[in-house]
Amino acid sequence: MIELFENNDRPNPIKTPHEIVKDLEYPCFDGTDLNPPLTYENIHKSFVISYFCRRFDLSIGAEIGIDQGLNLRHLIWLNPDIKLYAIDNYEGMNDLSFIEEVIEKANGKVKFLHKKSTEACHDLPDNHLDFVFIDANHSYEATLEDIQAWRNKVHVNGLIMGHELNLSGVARAVGESFSQFWISYDNTWIAPKCWLI
Ligand SMILES: C[S@@+](CC[C@H](N)C(=O)[O-])C[C@H]1O[C@@H](n2cnc3c(N)ncnc32)[C@H](O)[C@@H]1O
Repeated sequence: MIELFENNDRPNPIKTPHEIVKDLEYPCFDGTDLNPPLTYENIHKSFVISYFCRRFDLSIGAEIGIDQGLNLRHLIWLNPDIKLYAIDNYEGMNDLSFIEEVIEKANGKVKFLHKKSTEACHDLPDNHLDFVFIDANHSYEATLEDIQAWRNKVHVNGLIMGHELNLSGVARAVGESFSQFWISYDNTWIAPKCWLI
């Protein structure tokens, strides 16, 4: 028998990530009065993106596909220094007051581009972004188009990330675009730009 390390100091019970987040003090806006409210249950991809932002020291990013702004608000909430371009064409939707409210509360940290992803990319210079998070149309063609549209906007040491790697179209587009990539437990995919093929 080997002599084991003592583990008496380990807190019991060990805190879950959600409990740890609840203990944090958020320096940004309080999103609980927004509709839908921020929830700890739907925070997974925001955690993953935030982890990589901190690990790689990234602060200027773009989220492609915003919907209700849940991930956008979580990202601002978790990363006091982050600045985000929020891109969504909201096709067929007239009332965008919900997203205007999110932008207003973000206090200048978010710039909204109400455009199709492949058009919005032309508004930014090359190498401007630290990261991009692609979460719009998850078909093979659209994901490939988004990776190609946004790859030059991210600087050489930045990250290209996205969601729904469990969907076959996304997996094919990501697999064809990068020599390697990381996968998180909630199907977020993460790739340094230098892994582009
Ligand atoms: C899965 S939702 C985004 C969810 C959001 N990222 C989150 O985590 O809270 C997809 C969004 O992408 C937008 N979208 C789809 N195709 C798009 C395109 N070509 N350009 C811009 N936005 C698009 C849709 O309007 C929709 O709001």
